[in-house]
Amino acid sequence: MRTPLFQRIKRWAPGSAAAVLLSSFLLAACGENSPSVLNTAGPVAQDESSVFWVILVIAVIVFVLVEGALVYSIFHFRERPGMEGVAPKQIHGNTRLEMLWTIAPMIILFIVLFFTIRGLFQVAPDAEPKSANTVTVEVDAHQWWWGFYYPKYNIETADTLHVPANTDIHVDLYSNNVIHSFWVPALFGKTDVIPGHNNTKWFSADSSAVGKEYLGLCAEYCGTQHGNMRFSVHVDSADQFQSWVTQQQQAAAKPANGSLAAQGQKIFQAQCTTCHGIVGVDINSPSAVQDYAQACDDPNAKCRVGPNLTHFGSRSLIAGGVLTNNKESCDPNDPNLLKDCNLAQWLNDPQGVKPGNDMQIGSLSQNQIKSLVAYLEGLQ
Ligand code: CUA
Repeated sequence: MRTPLFQRIKRWAPGSAAAVLLSSFLLAACGENSPSVLNTAGPVAQDESSVFWVILVIAVIVFVLVEGALVYSIFHFRERPGMEGVAPKQIHGNTRLEMLWTIAPMIILFIVLFFTIRGLFQVAPDAEPKSANTVTVEVDAHQWWWGFYYPKYNIETADTLHVPANTDIHVDLYSNNVIHSFWVPALFGKTDVIPGHNNTKWFSADSSAVGKEYLGLCAEYCGTQHGNMRFSVHVDSADQFQSWVTQQQQAAAKPANGSLAAQGQKIFQAQCTTCHGIVGVDINSPSAVQDYAQACDDPNAKCRVGPNLTHFGSRSLIAGGVLTNNKESCDPNDPNLLKDCNLAQWLNDPQGVKPGNDMQIGSLSQNQIKSLVAYLEGLQ
């Protein structure tokens, strides 16, 4: 015998309600700090999220109409006592209905198509505003970290991209290894970074974003540490950006003679220069830096494997965002330096922190790590 409909509903309802509740708790965990394409901080992301909202509204209307018709039919035309074996009214071959449910979805899909295409054109490279105060950034995708080079200012940084608010940022995307995808959910959608095919994109950040830092991600599987290929975008006011640029244009700070940091610089020069550049130490400013950035675009040229560390101490992330640069916990005299200071942790065991990365250094002694921390965190 078939269980009556209402009893079946009774049986499933508690489980379904629990599942809905649980999922809303899980989604609630996505707090303010997790990146969202709906928490937009610039016009490109806004255009993209408005496509989402248009499609969502249309989908909700269609859902309510279709499910409403379904639920109405289930209850209104259900089998009642004494109706066993009576066939419902047949409407097969009703031309008007057939036309209606062919044409209505067509119209709806054309509306969706219109907004989608409009959105594509709004954010396309061709739509980049032609203004004088554009800042160009060359983005070099490595396995697994991001390098940022500003040709106009001849400066290079990694892991943290600084941009001025209310300014169009033109981005050139380069990779000499595998395909990556450049994405800052709050600012712009994903664009692939393809070896041999240099994509461009543009975005800008609202003035309300000044002082905030937005998480960026690699959105194309690119190897074991794809999930740890993060970066951040720090939005500055025009003045803040200018002073950041001026600071980044300086050669690296020279540590005082005989200091711990001076020992750190010696260790750097002996062990790290094959992969890392520091302006004023092992590379000359500024053209060497420029060659370095452009070499990464050419698969045959020698491109330094590791980030430019000239102003390492001013960055907020380490090693492709796998760690934060918590320099306040990096007092070289801290007996627990290896535990407290993320840079020390990284220098002590880079393969343990981020297995498979290119940092292959022989093991450093505690004292060497201490000096390197003192040196690198001092590079403001
Ligand atoms: Cu780079 Cu995924």
